[in-house]
Parts: sequence; structure tokens; C-alpha cells
Amino acid sequence: MFDLLVKGGTLPDGTVADIGITGDRIAAVGKLEAEAGRVIDATGDLVSPPFVDPHFHMDATLSYGLPRVNASGTLLEGIALWGELRDIATVDELVNRAVTYCDWAVSMGLLAIRTHVDTTPDHLRGVEAMLEVKRRVAPYLDLQLVAFPQDGLYRTKTGRQNLVRALDMGVDVVGGIPHFERTMEEGAESLRDLGRIAAERGLMWDVHCDETDDPMSRHVETMAREVSRHGLGQRAAGSHLTSMHSMDNYYVSKLLPLIAESGMTAIPNPLINITLQGRHDTFPKRRGLTRVKELQAMGIPVGWGQDCVLDPWYSLGTADMLDVAFMGLHVAQMTHPAEMARCFTMVTETNAQIMNLPGYGLKPGDQASLVILDAGNPVEALRLRPDRLAVISRGKVVAERLRNDCRLALDGRPSSVRRRHG
Ligand code: FE2
Repeated sequence: MFDLLVKGGTLPDGTVADIGITGDRIAAVGKLEAEAGRVIDATGDLVSPPFVDPHFHMDATLSYGLPRVNASGTLLEGIALWGELRDIATVDELVNRAVTYCDWAVSMGLLAIRTHVDTTPDHLRGVEAMLEVKRRVAPYLDLQLVAFPQDGLYRTKTGRQNLVRALDMGVDVVGGIPHFERTMEEGAESLRDLGRIAAERGLMWDVHCDETDDPMSRHVETMAREVSRHGLGQRAAGSHLTSMHSMDNYYVSKLLPLIAESGMTAIPNPLINITLQGRHDTFPKRRGLTRVKELQAMGIPVGWGQDCVLDPWYSLGTADMLDVAFMGLHVAQMTHPAEMARCFTMVTETNAQIMNLPGYGLKPGDQASLVILDAGNPVEALRLRPDRLAVISRGKVVAERLRNDCRLALDGRPSSVRRRHG
């Protein structure tokens, strides 16, 4: 007797299986005939572990247009706008916007998010607000908070002190932004400092690293060295790494093995990288995405992050990690069938690996969290970015959409016809 039985779904690897759930755990996977408190028929649908986003900014989300829009569309104007907004936003406003975003996330089957929280201002209202959000959503959504010195660890008088205060308040992960420190040297010093803080406190480390078109911005090299020195391995992640797009190929041939040796992971954010990078170029305009396939070829775990939704840096976005993977697939030219399938894995398993989430997966004993998609397989899910028919978090159905095969799609054919092709 299961509490919940998901019947006949197709798993991401193509296996057709029933999933029996007892309490908050997966109890059995296979051909199951037992009784259940509730049965969900997932025949013909894709049943996946939930989506995971390893890079987001929940303190800034859903604030688009406040206090005004980013007219130039650049990273730097976005940072300046956020600098104004963070000092006028109240804790309640920050909490409400973030909780609304979490509702969107749940409806999309996104059940784990790592969010950077700006620790620059002395008031630390963003930290206070995000700790409250983490507490509220804890029953159904895993939220990891990163202490993120948006204006630089050393560029403001209290930058370092406030980052440490945020960690003392309960923030989970150490951040960083070396390319935004005053000089290359201070950027490197910030990495040595932050790596030490992470190691001493036994925390994970996730750095906005080289988010620039400057081919000489080479902080990822220093970061990899510090990760190796402290043995942080997969507990460390380099976010963005966009300078690698523009670096000299010979230099990158030395850099990739250093990153691989360190064991660290990488988080490009394709929607934001393609939007913000290359803004100072005329033509040709660089794409700015890091070298995804080349990193993966070295065995380095690379996920896709969302970064922003409706905020000073990005004027669009939902909470759909399939949108993120769809953009990544295009910009990184991952069009081989195996590469497309990998793009789906990147926003599920790989992102969970990057966040070091325990009990993630669809094996007996794993946490009973999954999403049922109106698609036949992972590549079709990427192509259609379809309805999430049901989202289950820790054994409970937290979002559900009733199937209606009579509903017409935009092209005038029934959706069940539109979504199936071979
Ligand atoms: Fe970011």
C-alpha cells in the first residue's frame, strides 16, 4: 500500500515504470500492482526528478521597472539600479516578491534554488528577507542562500564585514565577485580570502567569476587554485565564466585541466549571458557564453542557471528551467541528439549535483519529489516546454493541471496531436 502511485510514466532514460511513494520517500520503482491512497496516471508522459536552479537572485526578482528600467541593458546599469532599489525596498516587499516567485517555481516543477543575496548594504534587509523566505518555503522547496558581496568584497568599507555578518545570520554558501573588485590584484586577493572563509566554516563556495567580455579577466584560474588548495572540490562552483568565451585558445588549453583538477563545477546562465555580454561590441558581437561543451569534455560538471527574472538585469523570464536549457542549447550549439538530452540533464541531475542536494533522483529511498510533463521524452520537453501536469514535493502533490485533450493548440490541432511526433 503506497500513499501515492504514479503509473506508467516514461523516465528521462526512456524506461517506463510506476513509482510508488510512501511518506516523503520513493518506496519502489517498476511494475507495481499495490493499492495506493491516490493513483496518478502518467501513461505517455515524462516523469522526471524536479528541476533545479543553481543560480538565481531572489532578492531582486519581480522588481522590473523599479525604480526605473535599465535603459542601456548593460550589467553595470543593472548593478547601479539595484543599488538604488535595495535601499528603498522593505523586508515585506522583498519577502512578498520572492514568495510569489517561489509559487511560480513550484508550478513549473522547480523545487530547489540557489539564490545569491546581496550582502553589501549595512542594513542587510535582503538577507533578513531571504532567510524568512527560506523558512516559509522550507516544507516544499529547497532554498540555498549565497552571501554575495554585489559591490565587491573590498570596494566598500563594510563589504567584507557584512558578508561575514550574513554568514553568521545563517546564510549557507560563500559568494564572491572578483572581476568587480577595483583591480585584478584585489580580485585575486578576494578569492584567496573567500576560499579561506568557506574552508574554515565548512561551507560551499559559489563565485560570480569573470562575468565580463574581458579576455584578460582570469579569476577562474585563481579560483581553481584555491579550490584545489582547500580541497573544496565539488562544493565549489564558478558562476558565469563568460570571459572564457573571449580568451585565447592556447591559454584555455592550460586553464581547462586546472579547473578539472580542482573538482569545481561551472554554472553558465545562458538567458542572461546572451543578453548582457557583447554590449560593448560593434560587429561581430560576441555571444559571451562560456565554453560549455569544452568544459564538459574535461569531465567538469556544468549546469544551466537562470540568474534573473523580471529584475534590473533581465526584463523577461518565468521560472521555467526548460526556457533556460532551450536558450543554452542554442547559444552553445548543443544540437546533437545526445547534447540536447544532456541539456535536460543539466537542469535536473547536474544542477542537483552542483548544489550537493541529498536524496535527489528517482531511485527507491530518494526524496519523493518529481514532475510529470506533457511530453514523451526530454528532448520533446525542451522543444515544447510543455505543461507540468503534476508536481510532487516530498510525497505531496503541490501543483496540478488537469489534462484536457479537447483544448486546441495555437496551430488549431488538438494538443495531444501537436505534442507527439515519433
Ligand atoms: Fe548572478
